[in-house]
Amino acid sequence: MFVDLTYNSLCGEIPLAITSLVVLSYLDLGFNGLHGNIPQELGKLTSLQGLELSGNLLSGHVPKHFANLTRLNTLHIFSNNLSGPIPPSLGNLNKLMDLELSENRLSAGIPVALFNLTELKRLSLEQNELTGSIPHEIGLLPNLSTLGLSTNQLSGPIPLSLGNLTLLSYLGLDFNQLVGSIPAEAGGLLSGPLPREFASNFAHLIDINLANNSLSGELPSDVCRGGKLEKFIVFMNMFTGPYPTSLKTCRSLKYISIGGGNQITGDVSSLGPYPRLVAAELGANNLSGCLSKTWASSINLTAFYVEINMITGNLPPEFSNLKKLEELVINANNLIGKIPLELSSLVNLYRLDLSQNQFSGHIPLEFGQMENLQYLDISANKLSGSIPKELGNCLKLISLALNHNNLSGDLPVTIGNMRSLQIMLDVSSNKLTARLPAELGNLVLLVLLNLSHNHFTGSIPTSIGSMDSLSTLDVSYNNLEGPLPTGRLFRNASIRWFLHNKGLCGNLSGLPLCSSIPIIEHHNARIYNLGLAISIPVCIVIIFLISVIKNSATAGTRDVLSVWNFDGKLAFEDITAATENFNDKYIIGSGSYGIVYKAQLQGGRLRGSLCTVLKNEELAKELDWQKRVTITTDVAQAIYYLHQECNPPIIHRDITSNNILLDADFKAYVSDFGIASILKPDSSNWSELAGTYGYIAPELSYASVVTTKCDVYNFGVIVLEIMMGMYPTELQSLVSMG
Ligand SMILES: *[C@@H]1O[C@H](CO)[C@@H](O)[C@H](O)[C@H]1NC(C)=O
Ligand SMILES: *[C@@H]1O[C@H](CO)[C@@H](O)[C@H](O)[C@H]1NC(C)=O
Ligand SMILES: *[C@@H]1O[C@H](CO)[C@@H](O)[C@H](O)[C@H]1NC(C)=O
Ligand SMILES: *[C@@H]1O[C@H](CO)[C@@H](O)[C@H](O)[C@H]1NC(C)=O
Repeated sequence: MFVDLTYNSLCGEIPLAITSLVVLSYLDLGFNGLHGNIPQELGKLTSLQGLELSGNLLSGHVPKHFANLTRLNTLHIFSNNLSGPIPPSLGNLNKLMDLELSENRLSAGIPVALFNLTELKRLSLEQNELTGSIPHEIGLLPNLSTLGLSTNQLSGPIPLSLGNLTLLSYLGLDFNQLVGSIPAEAGGLLSGPLPREFASNFAHLIDINLANNSLSGELPSDVCRGGKLEKFIVFMNMFTGPYPTSLKTCRSLKYISIGGGNQITGDVSSLGPYPRLVAAELGANNLSGCLSKTWASSINLTAFYVEINMITGNLPPEFSNLKKLEELVINANNLIGKIPLELSSLVNLYRLDLSQNQFSGHIPLEFGQMENLQYLDISANKLSGSIPKELGNCLKLISLALNHNNLSGDLPVTIGNMRSLQIMLDVSSNKLTARLPAELGNLVLLVLLNLSHNHFTGSIPTSIGSMDSLSTLDVSYNNLEGPLPTGRLFRNASIRWFLHNKGLCGNLSGLPLCSSIPIIEHHNARIYNLGLAISIPVCIVIIFLISVIKNSATAGTRDVLSVWNFDGKLAFEDITAATENFNDKYIIGSGSYGIVYKAQLQGGRLRGSLCTVLKNEELAKELDWQKRVTITTDVAQAIYYLHQECNPPIIHRDITSNNILLDADFKAYVSDFGIASILKPDSSNWSELAGTYGYIAPELSYASVVTTKCDVYNFGVIVLEIMMGMYPTELQSLVSMG
């Protein structure tokens, strides 16, 4: 008698009444909504040959009383909520051929009693919480063709006795904690990952999955000896040694995955053909050689991953024969030559990663035909030419990375058509020019936009302010100017995204306020010389920290003249060295003049203070009234900059004629010696560093709170000094008395 109630949406508990049907030979209650415990009373159905309870919500333990169902050849309770150990009494079911308990929460070890079940063809305990090692008694089940133990917490080695299972076609041991080597005395088990007998015995092997364990040693070279192998999955282990010999010509192979943690060596040009191959994942190994045309014979290939290897040569245009290809990931190799435009005929391709190779030539404009492309990464190659406007036809692109190439020309307006762009648009580190297209603002899903390290000009389009998803916008190292757009992003933006441009302004810490720009622009152009007139596109105000110069205030005429003829180039070299080639770590602010660096100069070539000049009769004569007015304005602008445009404001505290440097054109540079003694990291005053920008007491009044007024006061003294040609000593005594 059969009861088949499968897929009937039954719910509630298993009715005890059913246990009165003692003649029942087959009971199928699978794939309903049954819950509660499995009644022990089911053990009364001693005529049962098949019991199917899978796909319900049954909980509790596997009943011990099942030991009475000695005629049972099929017991399926997979995909339920069972917990506790597998009862050893199941070892009594000596006719059992098919035991399926996967997808439960069964715990503890695999009971040795199970290996009494010598008729078993299928033992599936996958996706439980089983612990302990795989008992070497597994070798007592020679009829086993399916052994599924994956996704448990099994540890220890794969037992040698597995080699006894000569009929095995499926071996799933993946996602456990199996290890490669064990002590020889641990029960006759082989040291090494896979039993020596393993491959040669496994003539029927179709599917082997050892992924995500800690297995080491070499892969079995004979694994495809039976010629039936379809799946060879060993990713995320620590296997080393050569690509298995029998696998190289394994024509039955459909899926191979050997990446992630392994270090397999081999020449990829000797692989294949694999006419039935569907997916190959060979990434992050030590594979070398070229990609041969042979791969083009894998007409069913959908995914090809060989990233992070040492593959050389061209990407054969024949890859375009792989019409089912969806993912082509070959980044971080040494591929050279042009990107084959034929790839554009791969209409199913949605992921193309060619990054970090040596590809040269242009981006094929035919790429615009790849209408299913979602991820395109061709960054870090040697590509030149412009970004084809046709790329804008790739309407499904989610992520586009073209950075670190030699691309020139403008950013095509069609980029705004790619409204699906979401993860990133990175065109940084190229040679792109012209204005940024306002159409960028159409990319309302975009999260990361990197336009940095190019030659973009003009302003940042206001439309960017309406890119609601944008959380990172890097436009640094361009020639941009004008106000930042408004919008959420710009309220929390990092100053680093805007550094090294021509003149960006906005309400952002570190940038000048836009309102300050017109004020500055109505003065004459001289103010832009406030920064050191060094031969880089932006003027740079440098806060010099040179302690030696202070001692040179009394330098003789010769010294002064050497400064007078001061060679801007030499100084530039000093500054370059002191700022480690304008390393960002020396940046303390940014404004319409450029970027403010803090640098400690080693030597002291820049000598020639206002003080020395005023004291030198000859030089003082050259300093006519016009020039003195200019110096006064320059100093005023410098102080204005430090106070109003730097955020937090920088209070100089020590603006004296010693600290104002003049060059051959009488351009004034405010430098900073006084603070140097405080900022020296080796000095005992190091803790006062934080105070430099606002809390250190001024020179004249160490006890009081420092404010910008200290500098303004100093400025007044300077003005007097410039007018009088000497330091107003009487004034000083007046002040110190007060
Ligand atoms: C193993 O099977 C035999 C019968 O074939 C049975 O007598 C014995 O009890 C079983 N052992 C276990 C541990 O279940
Ligand atoms: C292999 O199977 C045979 C029976 O087919 C058995 O006698 C032997 O003990 C098994 N060996 C191992 C190592 O389990
Ligand atoms: C390719 O895939 C199709 C559909 O799955 C299948 O029918 C065909 O046999 C496969 N071809 C090869 C050579 O494996
Ligand atoms: C933008 O790209 C440059 C290099 O091209 C990189 O240094 C920078 O970190 C990127 N910016 C962001 C915010 O990721």
